[in-house]
Order: sequence, then C-alpha cells, then structure tokens
Amino acid sequence: MNYTDEIQRRRTFAIISHPDAGKTTLTEKLLLYGGAIHVAGAVKSNKIRKTATSDWMEIEKQRGISVATSVMGFEYTPTLSGSDAQSFHINILDTPGHQDFAEDTFRTLTAVDSVIIVIDAAKGVETQTRRLMEVCRMRKTPVMVFINKMDREGKDPFDLLDEVESELGIRVRPLSWPINMGQRFKGVYNIFQRTLDLYTPNKQVVTESIRFDDVNAPEIDALVGDNDADKLRQDLELIEGVYAPFDKQEYLCGNLAPVFFGSALNTFGVKELLECFVQIAPSPQPVEAVERRVEPLEPKFTGFCFKIHANMDPNHRSCIAFFKICSGVFERNVYYKHIRKGQMMRFSAPTCFMAQKKETVDEAFAGDIIGLPDTGNFKIGDTLTAGEELHFKGLPSFSPEMFKYIENSDPMKTKQLNKGLEQLMDEGVAQMFINQFNNRKIIGTVGQLQFEVIQYRLLHEYGAQCRWEPIHLYKACWIESDDEEALDAFKKRKHQFMALDTEGRDVFLADSNYVLQMAQQDFPKITFHFTSEF
Ligand code: G4P
Repeated sequence: MNYTDEIQRRRTFAIISHPDAGKTTLTEKLLLYGGAIHVAGAVKSNKIRKTATSDWMEIEKQRGISVATSVMGFEYTPTLSGSDAQSFHINILDTPGHQDFAEDTFRTLTAVDSVIIVIDAAKGVETQTRRLMEVCRMRKTPVMVFINKMDREGKDPFDLLDEVESELGIRVRPLSWPINMGQRFKGVYNIFQRTLDLYTPNKQVVTESIRFDDVNAPEIDALVGDNDADKLRQDLELIEGVYAPFDKQEYLCGNLAPVFFGSALNTFGVKELLECFVQIAPSPQPVEAVERRVEPLEPKFTGFCFKIHANMDPNHRSCIAFFKICSGVFERNVYYKHIRKGQMMRFSAPTCFMAQKKETVDEAFAGDIIGLPDTGNFKIGDTLTAGEELHFKGLPSFSPEMFKYIENSDPMKTKQLNKGLEQLMDEGVAQMFINQFNNRKIIGTVGQLQFEVIQYRLLHEYGAQCRWEPIHLYKACWIESDDEEALDAFKKRKHQFMALDTEGRDVFLADSNYVLQMAQQDFPKITFHFTSEF
C-alpha cells in the first residue's frame, strides 16, 4: 500500500464523556470488534475517582494505566452491507475522565480528527460533556453521539435529542432508534443501514443480531410485539418529518451530529456505531501552522507534541512525548528538526500503540500518534519537521481557575524545586506565573487535584518540598495591544497585578470579575485573552 492510501485509511478520534457515562466500556467494545482484545474487562479505566484524591498509590497507578491506554490502535474491516471491504486503521485517543485533568483532555482533542460523545440515557447531557463540546465546537471537530445504557430506564429518546441540541449547541440526526428501554428494551432500528437489531443481553462476546430490511415487515410485530412495532413505525415517521436527511458534509463541518442508541455494556448498538463511523468519519485533516496550512498527504513529515508523560520511573528520567503526525511518513532513525531548539534529532525507538501494546515501529503515517522516548527535550506544543520552519497552532493554554502561591519548604533544595517546576510546567500539569510586583511564583490549575499531584511529584521525583499559600485571584488573562503606550499605561496602573508566564508573556491577574470588567472598560485598546494562544 502506498503512503497516501495508508494515510487515507486512518481514523483518529477520541471518545469523550462525563465520568461514568460509559467511555471505557465503549472503548473496550470497539477494541473487541477490532479483534484487538478478546475478552471484556481488559481495558482499565483511567478514571481517578473523587474518593481517591488522597490515595497517591492510586494516582501513580492511574498514571501507569493511562500511559498504556493513551492511544489504542487497531485494524477494522467493515462487515455490514453497503460498506466496501477496505480495512481501516483506527486510533482511539483516551482522555482522562477526571474533571481536574480537563486541560489534558482539551489538548488531546487537538490531536484528533473527530470525536464520539457518550451520553448516559438516564442522566442526559452533563457538565463535563458540555465543556468538552465547547472545545469541539471551537475547533469545528465532527462529532458523533452514542446514547448509552438503553438497557436501563432513561429519559425519552426525543427529549434526549432535544437536550443534546440545546445543551451542546449542535444539530442532531438520529441514525438508529431504540425500541423501548430498560427491562422492556427490545432493540434498535438502524436507520443508516435500514435494518433491525434485536437485543440479546450479552456482556462477554460479540453477538450477531437478527436483521430485517423493512420496518413494515410483519415479522417485526411478532418479534417485538404489536405495540412496540407500531410505536417504532410512528417514531420513525416523526423522525423523518422533524429531522432533515443525514448530510455527511454537515457532519464533517461540525454542524450536525449523527446519534446512535445502544448499550455498551451489552455490546449492543456498538457495531452499528463503528460501521457508520468508519464510513463517515474524516481521514486525517489539514492542520494549521503559523506559516501555512499543512496537508496530511504532503510527503514530508511534520508533527507536534500534545502530551508528555514524564518520570514514570523516578530512578530513570524516562519521559514519553506523544506526537501527532500531521503530514507524511515518520521514519525511525531519520533526522528531524526540533524547531524550538533548532536541532536535528533522530529517534531509535519510536513507539506506536496497538490495542494496549506499545511497540517500536519503523514508520508511522499522518494521523498516527507516536511516542518518542525523551529526556527533557520536548514540551507541549513543540513541532518536529523534515527541516521546514513550522509552528503548529491550536494548543491553547486555558486561563486556570484555581491559584496558589508556591513556596519552597526546603531552602537546600531550591535547584531541585525549580527544575521540577520547569519540567512539570513543560509537561502541562499546570501553569506558572511570576508576579512582577513581589516576584512570587503562582501556580494556576483547573482543579484542586493538580496541586496535590504537583506537591507529591516534586517530592518523589525531584526531592523538593513545597507548600501552598493562598492567593485571592479570579482569573489570569493574557494581555496584548498594538498600542505600546496603552500597554505601558495599563502595566503601570496595574503593576501589582502583573505577571509573566513561562514564555515571558504579560499576564494580568484579576482578583474579581468586577475588576476584570472595569479593566476591560477602562482600557479599550487592550485585548484580554482567556487562552494563551493568540
Ligand atoms: P467512564 O469510562 O465513562 O467513566 O464509564 P465506564 O465505562 O467506566 O462505565 C461506568 C459504569 O457504567 C460502569 O459500572 C459500567 O459497567 C456501566 N455501564 C457502561 N455501559 C453500560 C450500559 O450500557 N448499561 C449499563 N446498565 N451500565 C453500563 P460500574 O459499576 O461503575 O463499574 P464496573 O464495576 O461495572 O466496572
């Protein structure tokens, strides 16, 4: 197969959900279909449960698991009618379930070409789903929705569709439709394939279901009962009346989300989702760099780092830098340019991820994720190319939501503390600002758990001790202006509240929403950014 075919048969996506909606279960079932695993229960959830916040062993264990499950690749050849027999290479990127690691998830979303959102039929759209969808909308990522747990009593399917539309701000089009739910769940009519799958609860093996090509076939009444058969026909009529026919182009533009119903735990409705996914989900998409747009089929390799897993083994400074390949073919032992450092580097042991295995590869293609063993050369956002000066965009740092001063508790270990902080910030664990007024370091995070992780990792990986001191802050926002004078005037007026981020950019520390609004009003020539990419 030539390299363009290899790239075009790749599908790189993330499954996102509010914790407990069934992301891990669905991932596992997709891997079962791909033949990548053979029994359920093989994929470990990388969820850090709320109750485990002080259980460090748990966090460490989770870090171990999440390396193994960060990317799961597998091959899949569609079997249902209507799809050609081409085989697809699927890369599923795992996202941390815990909301305190939301930023990690946001960055992972920059490395995927589409997304599947899992929604719990009983709970509907939950907070975390809403936040993640905002990122998808911002990036115009194509989204498919899987409404899970139909084997339990849940909300009315039409209400769920309305909720998804209004809460997630995207138009929907059901492509499968459930026949009842909970104890009375009989199955799903596959609108996309025009077939009917009957529900047989089975948690362990992939089952074939009975099929009918026509919803009016009298056999359906016999199988699901007259009432449910009539209800299904009425529902389908209503769907056809209310929702426009599925438009693939609208999906690819991120305006329309096809919706599937099923039960991941029972492996029901998953195959339909996967078959439709491989047919409609986009192959690797162009990626914007500051200099130009990079097309995946360009022959020369380019890629960017979206995730770093550091110090899994504290005795060896072993890190893995995860790169998304944006174009061309990456080859082992070939020299590539590390743009930020201006250095040529080659990699003798790049890894790819097949199911849960990590293996050394000789080549990888646009759309793939490779893991490069690293000793501190990379930070998030770094670009590697075959030589061209390129800087990929789209890896924003979000304005943190919680802030604390970090203080050194062991003056003998200042060097270790600084080194540790620098590496943890490169890894994207949190953001650091240095207040220009008092020179104190402020750490900003999206959740309380990060502070605990930082303190623990500084001690165990760098031998440095820190303590936290409270600071009252509402938001940190990056400021800029074309008008140098206005910028200087602002900095002078707010000098107590000015800080620099690790890149040396100006950051305004607002201690309340009111202060921020007043500043925006009083200084119209200043632009206030809530993400650091501008
Ligand atoms: P997450 O990764 O999105 O956080 O969710 P996960 O897959 O871990 O699923 C959360 C819980 O929901 C699990 O139960 C899982 O078994 C259950 N679940 C997933 N899909 C379905 C479904 O289709 N129907 C029903 N009834 N339950 C489903 P748990 O008790 O938290 O974990 P476990 O003890 O079963 O592993």
